[in-house]
Amino acid sequence: MTDLADIADVGRDPRRGGYSRHGFDPVERELREWFVEEAERRDLDVYPDRNGNIWAWWGEPGRDAVITGSHLDSVPGGGAFDGPLGVVSALQAVDLLRAQGFRPSKPLAIVVFVEEEGGRFGVACLGSRLMTGAITPEAACKLVDAEGITFGEAAHAAGFDPLRMGRDDRALTSIGAFVELHVEQGRGLDVPIGLASSILAHGRWRYTFTGEGNHAGATLIEDRRDPMLPAAQMVLAARRTATHGARATVGRLVPNPGGTNVIASSVDVWLDARADDEQRTREVVERITTAARAAAAEEGCSVRVTEESWGGTVFFDPSLISHIRSALGENTPTLPTGAGHDAGILAAHVPTAMLFVRNPTGISHAPEEFAEADDCAAGVVALATTLEHLTR
Ligand code: GLV
Ligand code: MN
Ligand code: MN
Repeated sequence: MTDLADIADVGRDPRRGGYSRHGFDPVERELREWFVEEAERRDLDVYPDRNGNIWAWWGEPGRDAVITGSHLDSVPGGGAFDGPLGVVSALQAVDLLRAQGFRPSKPLAIVVFVEEEGGRFGVACLGSRLMTGAITPEAACKLVDAEGITFGEAAHAAGFDPLRMGRDDRALTSIGAFVELHVEQGRGLDVPIGLASSILAHGRWRYTFTGEGNHAGATLIEDRRDPMLPAAQMVLAARRTATHGARATVGRLVPNPGGTNVIASSVDVWLDARADDEQRTREVVERITTAARAAAAEEGCSVRVTEESWGGTVFFDPSLISHIRSALGENTPTLPTGAGHDAGILAAHVPTAMLFVRNPTGISHAPEEFAEADDCAAGVVALATTLEHLTR
């Protein structure tokens, strides 16, 4: 039987722990090949789309299709469940439905989206954003990874034509419902299975602080223009500003040139900010930016702020949620999430819902991310039940 254990050795990160699997890197490409084999073994018809995503169809592609799936990439040093659980559960749900002798009356497909985490090219949900037109192919193809390889080059190397990328109206108009199963990522679920109600508004910003590179020993403190100082103040401002349920995180900071005995000439700091609504998220970022500008001026440095991605609050489809709840049981809880998903991108275009599998520790985006085998099995049953109800 297909299981997360089948891919447990693919993309382990010995330095960070956990997994580092990024859009179109050799590891993610190996996982994509694994998915294609698994789908073909089930006689599903596999088609890559124009945007780097892979679709595996049970039945002829067509209108009112019911789609499930997730992603196979991870954050740097991520866990085993975020993404792959939704893909593996979808394959297992198909197996379960077939074992029960079920035949869908509507087209049903499993999709694997590319670069959901933005761990390589910086923008999350790249495959679903391209498909829905939330990012232009020109902008996506210009994104660069740490080695200077563009998304366009990486996609081309993986067999995709960047010139053919972009909003896929044919796919969008054919989808009747999209349901993504995912490990829950906070401590919001105390029963095995829940449904998502909403996703926080969310964006990513890059702050580039520029000062003067110099010698760590020979430069007097009063002569320095050290961009690490405003960078540090900005990190503190992020924590201070994120109150009343807002979240602001600096998880990546890169000094240039990055030497122990070198005062950096510039420092890039990435801010991830999220809050209940768009206005509140923007306010948080504005306050952090104001603090960053003041700290930069005090040190004789400059700061440039670039918005790298943005998404408003997502509300999943209430009638799809109540339909699924009637299939799974009226006591199935509904909960909001602070995590972003391809389902959140699709929700603006097609009826979309998410199933969550309990996370006993609430840890995610870290090697310790975990879900119990029994809860994962309950997730497969819940997904199969959902797909059955939606396609009969
Ligand atoms: C993706 O998982 C995100 O929430 O950033
Ligand atoms: Mn994630
Ligand atoms: Mn995910």
